[in-house]
Formats: sequence, structure tokens, C-alpha cells
Amino acid sequence: MPRNPGCIAWMTGLALGVAVASAQAAEKKEVLEGAPARLLAAQCDGCHGFNGVSAGPSIPSIGGFSKDYMMEVMEGFREGDVPATLMDRIARGYTEEEIEKIAGYYAKQKWVPAKQPFDADLAGVGAKLHDKYCEKCHEEGGKKGDEDVPPLAGQWLPYLQYTMADYVSGRREMTKKMKKKVRKLMDAHGEKGLRAVLHFYASQQ
Ligand code: HEC
Ligand code: HEC
Repeated sequence: MPRNPGCIAWMTGLALGVAVASAQAAEKKEVLEGAPARLLAAQCDGCHGFNGVSAGPSIPSIGGFSKDYMMEVMEGFREGDVPATLMDRIARGYTEEEIEKIAGYYAKQKWVPAKQPFDADLAGVGAKLHDKYCEKCHEEGGKKGDEDVPPLAGQWLPYLQYTMADYVSGRREMTKKMKKKVRKLMDAHGEKGLRAVLHFYASQQ
């Protein structure tokens, strides 16, 4: 089930798109190969917002992600390694070259933190826990993305919550070191500690 009912229209459009595309595969390929990156990225706007600034709350912002991270996560969606409600099917609709173009486009956009509600008390606790358990890789309070990690500060909270739940349940694999830190945090501070860190990310607007 899509997490966002607004996406049902998109899914329907997507299914139609796939049917048309297979009938006109050669023609489509020709058109897309010459397509500027902006035109390819336009196919993401409906869900992720113009230039990757999502209107949320369960669809993540992606503008300003590094090219490397974007390509890796798209590959993960294609292969089924990263759990998805929609992105597995979407990612499989593009060639590697197209994804590289799209990733290059989003890497040039600005990361825009989402304006959203959060629990200030939890965020205060979360700031300290972040420094202790997460800052090593998610630098500057999670503001800084790099080739391995996307920015977390200002990402939509419901998306972060779904994603963290996927990690904790093992549906999405964490790197060994992240897994160790998440386990330490949860052993010491429980589920609430993890929730606090995510509210800290949401509080940075
Ligand atoms: C129909 C809506 C929809 C469209 C269209 C769409 N996405 Fe997504 N995207 C999602 C959803 C929902 C998620 C969360 C994962 C999931 O549930 O599939 C997501 C997640 C992602 C993520 C992971 C973000 C992260 O923080 O790791 C990336 C990257 C991404 N999408 C890129 C794209 C690109 C590039 C396009 C266009 C080629 C695109 N998406 C088109 C709905 C969409
Ligand atoms: C040793 C490095 C490392 C540490 C420590 C670490 N992470 Fe991560 N994190 C990563 C990497 C790398 C990714 C990119 C995706 C992947 O490889 O799973 C990531 C991705 C994430 C994501 C998904 C972002 C998205 O847009 O989908 C969340 C949420 C997250 N980390 C939260 C945390 C929290 C909370 C902590 C502290 C308890 C933490 N991480 C500690 C390396 C780390």
C-alpha cells in the first residue's frame, strides 16, 4: 500500500506509462537518451516536489543528495535491497545512464529543510544522543550529507520514522557500524531515545 494516498494517481499513471513504454520502447529510449536531466527529473516532481523539495510527510526530500548516495539507493531499490512501497518499481523504469543523469541533477540542487511539527523536549534530548551515537557519520547534527549519507536534518519526520523502523526490523540493512551504534543507543535509552534523535532532525528547519 502506498503510504501517501496522493500517490495512487501517480501509480495508475505509472502503470499506464509502463504499458505505453513497452509498446514504444525503442522510441522512448531514443527520446530519453537525448533528454536533458531536468526533463528526466520532472518525472519525480509529482511526488518529491520541484527540485526534490518534498511537500511531505512520508515522501522524502531528495534535492541536494550527493550523486553517489542517490545512485546507490536507486540501485538498492532496483535490486530490492532497500524496502519500498513505490520506488522499487519506479527505479526499475530507468537505465543506469538515466539514473546517473538524474542523480547528477539532484546533486546540484539545494537541500531545503522541511517546515514541520516536532516535540521540542524530545528534540533537546535527541540532540545529545545524536552527538554521542550518530554524529560521527551524520555530521553537523545531520545537516551534512556526503557521498555515503544523505542529510537527515530537516528531512520529513514520518519518512525518517518509517525508514528507521525498516532498519531496526532488519528489512533495510544498516552498515555494521551504524547497527552497533543504533543498538547501543537503544540498549541505553530504548525506543524513546531513537524517537528523540529523529525529533532532533525534524527540529532543524
Ligand atoms: C509515485 C511517487 C514517487 C515518484 C514518482 C518518485 N518517488 Fe522516489 N520515493 C517515493 C516514496 C514513497 C519513497 C519512500 C520509499 C518507498 O516507500 O518507496 C521514495 C524514496 C526515494 C528515495 C530515497 C530517499 C532517501 O532518503 O534515501 C530516492 C533517492 C528517490 N525516491 C528518488 C526518486 C527519483 C530520482 C524519482 C524520479 C525518477 C522518484 N524518486 C520518483 C515516491 C516517489
Ligand atoms: C558508521 C557510520 C554511521 C553511524 C554511526 C550512523 N549512521 Fe545512519 N547511515 C549511515 C549510512 C552509510 C547511511 C546510508 C544508507 C545505508 O547505507 O543504509 C545511513 C543512513 C541513515 C538513515 C536513512 C536516511 C534516508 O534518507 O533514508 C537514517 C534515518 C539514519 N542513518 C539514522 C542514524 C541514526 C539515528 C544514527 C545514530 C543512532 C546513525 N544513523 C548512525 C551511516 C551511519
